Amino acid sequence: MYAQLISKEKAAAVIGLGYVGLPLAVAFASRLRVIGFDIDEGRLDKLRRGIDPAGELEAEAFEGKDIVFTSSTERLKEASFYIVTVPTPIDRHNRPDLSALLSATRLIGSVLSKGDYVVYESTVYPGCTEEDCVPLLEELSGLKAGRDFKTGYSPERINPGDKEHTLANTIKIISACDTEALDVIEQVYAAVVTAGLHRAPSIKTAEAAKIIENTQRDVNIALMNELSILFDRMGINTYDVLTAAGTKWNFLPFTPGLVGGHCIGVDPYYLVHKAKELKYHPKMINSGRFVNDSMGGYIGKKIVKKLIAQGTNILGARALVMGITFKENVSDIRNSKVIDIIRELKDYGMEVEITDPCASPEETEREYGLQLTETVGSNYDAVIVAVAHKQYTGLTEAYFLSITRRPAVLADPKGIFRGKIHTMTYWSL
Ligand SMILES: NC(=O)c1ccc[n+]([C@@H]2O[C@H](COP(=O)([O-])OP(=O)(O)OC[C@H]3O[C@@H](n4cnc5c(N)ncnc54)[C@H](O)[C@@H]3O)[C@@H](O)[C@H]2O)c1
Repeated sequence: MYAQLISKEKAAAVIGLGYVGLPLAVAFASRLRVIGFDIDEGRLDKLRRGIDPAGELEAEAFEGKDIVFTSSTERLKEASFYIVTVPTPIDRHNRPDLSALLSATRLIGSVLSKGDYVVYESTVYPGCTEEDCVPLLEELSGLKAGRDFKTGYSPERINPGDKEHTLANTIKIISACDTEALDVIEQVYAAVVTAGLHRAPSIKTAEAAKIIENTQRDVNIALMNELSILFDRMGINTYDVLTAAGTKWNFLPFTPGLVGGHCIGVDPYYLVHKAKELKYHPKMINSGRFVNDSMGGYIGKKIVKKLIAQGTNILGARALVMGITFKENVSDIRNSKVIDIIRELKDYGMEVEITDPCASPEETEREYGLQLTETVGSNYDAVIVAVAHKQYTGLTEAYFLSITRRPAVLADPKGIFRGKIHTMTYWSL
């Protein structure tokens, strides 16, 4: 398989060209013939013009690459090595929503041939590939997994907005249905990952490894968030405590904050789902989720209390929220917890304006029905720097004073301006 891929006799396909799939497809396209498949025509149109809708890849990244961007099932048939990178979100009840994963699986099942490979990269709970996807591939193709086609799982570790940890320089986990398949998958991925590959002993192990990477972060951030609620009551600054504690060699550098996006705040629910199926109710993981999911409301209430304490009439008070993306220096607004702060402030009758140099106004309107303010006004009662975008980190108290009336609150959940605000009422986690 590898020799045929590298000689371009056979082609690879990447299904789902989002944050994960696009960089992967483009990287493979410098060595292999690649079919980039997606169901979103608008996205495909941009990709064909060398534009990454997520703004992660520059136009040069597309140059000289052997890749077609298509939604055609016919073109997909040309591939022999399928990689699935479609979204795996949660539904309204925080349960895994496998609809895109199963739909992509059905599609591959309908074009699968003897000798083909299917590797899943989407984040799933342990067991999902073999219990939910492979039977569907067998049913639709009429082929037998292991004998007629091979399967594997290789979780993605991409970190949007991070130019330092890339696909090529981050060790990648690979796993497969048998050793023969693992050898092939290793050869294929080694063509684009220079940092090395870790051979997990089973597909389930690789699935579990991915899901705990984010679960570990979620639980640790939840502990920091809980500590920040506690330290607030004690009248001490959490970041001051963390800086002091961080001088010990084995103190882990986690900080409090909003946990949004589609990884850290979502993946633990996949593990919870599987645990429940096995009649185990994970207490630590669920508590972490509960604490982190309540932080937006908590921050909103703290701002209102600070305003009341300085004598501001809350009804009609004006707030400017700076940053709406789920984390700093990315354009992705999906599952942003800043929305919880905005809702809380509006619930109290405040008027809220939102600005963000990275977010798309159209997407913000579509996703949340909220308008982004084009020009920052003045006379705000409160300014909330909700996201640590690089455009914000250099701002000074003079700037915040220029856009607020007296007295005003500066809420800085990420603690960016700690020690730099002397005139305004300052609050951080
Ligand atoms: N974004 C990250 O930082 C990150 C990191 C590691 C792992 N992951 C995981 O990778 C997977 C993909 O995440 P993402 O952030 O790239 O998603 P995304 O939403 O950015 O992109 C998914 C793409 O898949 C397409 N798609 C949806 N359904 C499809 C279908 N049935 N057939 C073909 N294409 C389809 C969408 O149009 C979109 O272009 C998820 O399981 C996610 O948990 C994401």
